[in-house]
Amino acid sequence: MLKSYFGRLPNGKEIYSYAVSNGAISLTVLDYGGIIQSLKYCGNDVVLGYNTIGEYLDNDGYLGAIVGRYANRISGGSFRLNKKTYRLFKNDGGNTLHGGAGGFSGVVWDVTGDDASITLKYLSPDREEGFPGNLLTGVKYYLTENGVGIEYTALCDKDTVVNLTNHSYFNLIGGETIENHFLLIDADYFTPVNSALVPTGELRPVSGTVFDFRCAKSIGRDIEENDPQLKIAGGYDHNFVLRKDGFRKVAELSSAKAGIEMDVYTDRPGMQLYTGNFLTGRMGKNGKKIMKRGGVCFETQSYPDSVNHPEFPSTELKAGEMYHTVTEYRFHKY
Ligand code: GLA
Repeated sequence: MLKSYFGRLPNGKEIYSYAVSNGAISLTVLDYGGIIQSLKYCGNDVVLGYNTIGEYLDNDGYLGAIVGRYANRISGGSFRLNKKTYRLFKNDGGNTLHGGAGGFSGVVWDVTGDDASITLKYLSPDREEGFPGNLLTGVKYYLTENGVGIEYTALCDKDTVVNLTNHSYFNLIGGETIENHFLLIDADYFTPVNSALVPTGELRPVSGTVFDFRCAKSIGRDIEENDPQLKIAGGYDHNFVLRKDGFRKVAELSSAKAGIEMDVYTDRPGMQLYTGNFLTGRMGKNGKKIMKRGGVCFETQSYPDSVNHPEFPSTELKAGEMYHTVTEYRFHKY
């Protein structure tokens, strides 16, 4: 693992980047937010990012970051657990998004590593952003022969709720939006949202809708359709109910122009497909603009707002119990 100085926070704290490579895959991660700053497959950088810490501090869309304690929206910024109501910081209108104002995307992680992996640790104190319990969180990025894996662990001294993911924006070709990328998602249902982008609780069949990715289609094919769910989000920003359980392949993204395919594997029940609808065209690393729909996120997780939907898979973590989940992004030429 190669450690390099990356920049400084306004409070003077030095931020470092950590890099590992095995020839086919090169990965660079920051201790700030656990951000994947660069992921190269056979020399092609396939994620959006910035060159400086100042640009990351502006937090324009959680580029590459670990999001937690609780990915996506928590309705009303509150939930009940063990007959108690917990109130969180509301950073997205009346709701909490991606763990609150000081979520895991904005903290500095402790880093260790070896030739093929980078391990980050963060101890989130009891009641940070309103969440119960001291939560010891680990994120291990590891290289595989043709990809990168992310192993999340967490342990708490109180009963709590956890939903961790990574917010990388993928673009296999660069220099253009992801609308020409083909996408397949192994999901028969998705969770429709209300006007604040919070799931209503319904599981709606994808069949006959613009959300049907069971046979690969280009992301752009239906994205401008006059569909109320697409209109609310300005594109795709929805959780898919993944078929089967256990660690399995759930999605395939490909770019014919790049000749590259990326497969997403996870053990999670859901995946937020987000097509970068809120990106604003700021300048990113390597002189490339981070344009609207310039990248696509596959945020593997439990369904958003599960804490307020007993019918969704549970995100509760009992005191002393180990939270453990794995997601892998695997690449190949085609
Ligand atoms: C997630 C959300 C989006 C948006 C992005 C960050 O993907 O679902 O609505 O908030 O994060 O810009």
